[in-house]
Amino acid sequence: MTDPALDAEALRDRAVAALVAARDRTTLLTSCVDEPDLTAQHSPLMSPLVWDLAHIGNQEEQWLLRAVAGQEALRPEIDGIYDAFEHPRAERPSLPLLPPGEARRYAAEVRGRALDVLEAAAFTGARLTEAGFAFGMVAQHEQQHDETMLITHQLRRGPQALTAPDPEPVPLFTGPSEVLVPGGPFTMGTSTEPWALDNERPAHRREVAPFFIDTTPVTNGAYRAFVEDGGYDDPRWWTTAGWDHVRRAGLVAPLFWRRDGRQWLRRRFGVTEVVPPDEPVLHVSWYEADAYARWAGRRLPTEAEWEKAARHDPAAGRSTRYPWGDAEPGPAHANLGQRHLRPAPAGSYPAGASPLGVRQLIGDVWEWTASDFLPYPGFRAFPYKEYSEVFFGPEYKVLRGGSFAVDPVACRGTFRNWDLPVRRQIFSGFRTARSVEGA
Ligand code: AVJ
Ligand code: FE
Repeated sequence: MTDPALDAEALRDRAVAALVAARDRTTLLTSCVDEPDLTAQHSPLMSPLVWDLAHIGNQEEQWLLRAVAGQEALRPEIDGIYDAFEHPRAERPSLPLLPPGEARRYAAEVRGRALDVLEAAAFTGARLTEAGFAFGMVAQHEQQHDETMLITHQLRRGPQALTAPDPEPVPLFTGPSEVLVPGGPFTMGTSTEPWALDNERPAHRREVAPFFIDTTPVTNGAYRAFVEDGGYDDPRWWTTAGWDHVRRAGLVAPLFWRRDGRQWLRRRFGVTEVVPPDEPVLHVSWYEADAYARWAGRRLPTEAEWEKAARHDPAAGRSTRYPWGDAEPGPAHANLGQRHLRPAPAGSYPAGASPLGVRQLIGDVWEWTASDFLPYPGFRAFPYKEYSEVFFGPEYKVLRGGSFAVDPVACRGTFRNWDLPVRRQIFSGFRTARSVEGA
């Protein structure tokens, strides 16, 4: 029924489009500031933008030119500089980085050759190129660094460099505040999504007890009530490590918030504005999300609960790719792809709701879950241990769903992100859950 030649052409087109879209975004993020700004370190948590730029090219060279096509290294002397494991972010500004012009030329040279490799590629036979995986992986990697660069833009002081239209205003959400997800097994993870990364695999059955989950992410207004109720001064709400951190770091509110008399202001991409009460809260650490949940008499959802809420279709009795079904994300489904430079108000995107009515699971803000970042049963590192495997363990917490800064190519109902529980420069928010009494 399916014509393999046509399928190959469709895959090729999809891979070209994903690579081109990623490069357009990288170009936008690295051309809207001047050269000293590209080489400066705006925060010790982040690399200079020019490091990300050449690192994107270097990863593409390693996977598409060397691993797939067997080509020689273009500039073997720079591999070490752009190896994320050799040099932590804080020391990257002191490396002999390629200056902006050279970094651009290097990434463009790699891209030209990569498109030639793609033109000639067969998408069957070798695991690395099966269904175009290596090309999809490289496009996702570039988009992930584009989100990282957008975080650098948010941390950067100085005048606004980026603009985007705001999301459509919506009427205040008045639906039920939580949804009951019935208990029972569901399929978590995937073995069939062609560009899913190693940590999303394989598909496996998970038993989940019935639970309630918030219909929308927790808003700034709700979070502000926690702040003003003295939440940051009350050890009852915090884990031992969380309390220790919040005291030592002197945290009093989400990152980028500042009190101004009786109102709260925030800085967002170089502009100071009143914190909008109906927008999902952004820039909170796992410790803060966890403390808020306890203050509210609730808890964070586990990763399995989150995925069941996002993918389980009770009528069809199967897991879908996204909350709304299997269709690729469109602008009516979710706030993705840096179309906007902020989350949309809680209750937006009714067309992106799950069958049970849970909204904004995909896009807007990364959602902290209660879970540590661990491999699924049957996990196999592919194609390299340094993507996921070296991070597995209790130090990292899982985030799900993607933010407004995530491109659709790097966002699925199965997609797993992770970070340290203290991190909050990322586009992180959360929703809460509760167990069903007696279940
Ligand atoms: C999956 C977002 C945690 O940025 O550290 C980029 C993605 N891995 N280059 C990160 C990644 C290698 C990764 N996260
Ligand atoms: Fe990387």
